Amino acid sequence: MSKANVLLVPYPCQSHINPMLQFAKRLASKGVPAALIVTRFIARTVRFYAGPVRVESISDGHDEGGLPSAASVDEYVERLESNGSASLAALIEEGHFTHVVYDSFMHWVARTARGLGLSAVPFSTQSCAASAVYYYVNSGLLDAPPPGDAGGRSEPFAGLPGLERWEFPSFVFHDASYPALTAPALAQFADRDAGDWVLVNSFDELEFEVLDGLKHHFKARAIGPCVPLPAVDDSVDVDCFTYGANLLSPEDTCIKWLDAKSPRSVVYVSFGSNASIGAAQMEELARGLLATGKPFLWVVRAGEEAQLPRHLLDAATASGDALVVRWSPQLDILAHRAVGCFVTHCGWNSTLEALGFGVPMVALPLWTDQPINARFIEEAWGAGVRARRDASAGVFPRGEIEQCVRAVMEDEDGSDAARRWSEAARAAVAPGGSSDQNLEEFVNYLRASAG
Ligand code: UDX
Repeated sequence: MSKANVLLVPYPCQSHINPMLQFAKRLASKGVPAALIVTRFIARTVRFYAGPVRVESISDGHDEGGLPSAASVDEYVERLESNGSASLAALIEEGHFTHVVYDSFMHWVARTARGLGLSAVPFSTQSCAASAVYYYVNSGLLDAPPPGDAGGRSEPFAGLPGLERWEFPSFVFHDASYPALTAPALAQFADRDAGDWVLVNSFDELEFEVLDGLKHHFKARAIGPCVPLPAVDDSVDVDCFTYGANLLSPEDTCIKWLDAKSPRSVVYVSFGSNASIGAAQMEELARGLLATGKPFLWVVRAGEEAQLPRHLLDAATASGDALVVRWSPQLDILAHRAVGCFVTHCGWNSTLEALGFGVPMVALPLWTDQPINARFIEEAWGAGVRARRDASAGVFPRGEIEQCVRAVMEDEDGSDAARRWSEAARAAVAPGGSSDQNLEEFVNYLRASAG
C-alpha cells in the first residue's frame, strides 16, 4: 500500500479551487489520499462536494472577514503568504503528508513544503500555451513585440504561433495594477523539484504542439480537463452543485427558463468570477444581443449590476426572451440542449467547460490568459470566433457581437468541431486515455518517491 499522501493548495478563488479539487478527486480515485487546502473563511462558509477528498484550512489573515475586494489583491496576496505559510507549516507538521501540489504562482507554498522535507509539484490552472509563454519569456527564450509596435508579432516558437503583443498573457508586462502577481506569474515554473514535474489542466490532444515543445524543458504533463464531463453516451449525469465548491450561489431560475426554449436557440453570456466589463461594454453587448433576435441568458455579478443598461433589456426580460442572473449553474447551462453558443471572456475553466460540453464560443477576451485562449479557440481548435475590439473605443462593438453570435449559431462546422472536442476531452480522462495515463505516471512517481 502506498504511503503517498498529497496536500493540494490552490489560490483561494473560484477558478483555482475547482480544477484542483477535481484533480484531487482523480488522485483519490487512484488510491492516493488527498486533502485540499482552502482558507478558514471559505472552509466555514462554502459547501464542498469533495467526495473522498478531505478539505483542510489555513489562515489568510481574514478568518472572519471574508474575501477581500478586488482593489486589495496585492495586500491580500501578501497577507495570504505571511499568514498562510505559518499555518500551512503547522498543518504539514501535524499530518503524514508526502507531497504538496501547489498553484503554480504560489511559490511560498513550495518553499514551506520543501523546508519541511516534502516534494512540491506546481499545478497550472491555465492552458499549456499561457504557461509556456510565461516560462519562455522568463527564461529569455521568447520576446514580445515592443510597446507601440502595432501589427508586430513574436516569432513562432516551440509549438506556439507568432503572437501579437495583446495576445501575450498580460502579466508578462509587469501589470502595474497587480504588482504582487506579475513576478510570481512569470517565474511560475522556474523552481522545480528533482522530479521535475509540472501538472497542467489541459489534455494532450488539445495542446499537443505546445506540450511537445515544453518537454525539452521540464516534465509538463497534461492531466485535464479537470471539469466534470458528460457521460460517453451523451447523457448528462453531472451538475454544478456537486462539481466542487461554489463561492457564489447559483440562481435556480435558469434551468426552468432554458427548459422552455428550443434546442440550440439560446446564447449564454458570462465573464467568469472576476472580470468587470464596464458600462460602455455592457451597452454594446446588450444592443448586440438584442439585434440577433435570439434569446439570451446573461450573468451579471452583483457588483456589476449598477452598470447594466436595464432600460434596454426591460422588454426582453418581461417577455421571457432574456434572463439576467447574478450567478448561474454554469455546467448545467452548458449541458442544456437549449444552449447554442457561449459568449465568454475565455477564462481557462470556462473554455474547458465549453469544449467539454461541445458548446461553440464567441470570444470576448479581456486580460490575463484570455486573449491567448481566444486565439487557440478560433485558430487552433475551430471551436468559435473572436470578436474584434474597437481599439479607439476600447470595446467590442454591438455590430461585431451581433455578427459573431449569428456566425457561431449558424455554423454547423463550428458546432461539429466543438462536439469533437467534447469527445476528445472525454476520451482523454477515460481509463487508458492520455490524461489518465499521465495521471497513472504521476501516481507511480508519488508512490516511488514517498518511500
Ligand atoms: C480567472 C481568469 O479570468 C482566467 O482567465 C484564468 O484562467 C483563471 O482565473 P475566471 O475569470 O473566474 O478565472 O474565469 P474561469 O476560469 O472561466 O472560471 C470561472 C468559473 O466560474 C468556471 O468554473 C465557471 O463554471 C464558474 N461560473 C462562472 C459559474 O459557476 N457560474 C457563473 O455564473 C459564472
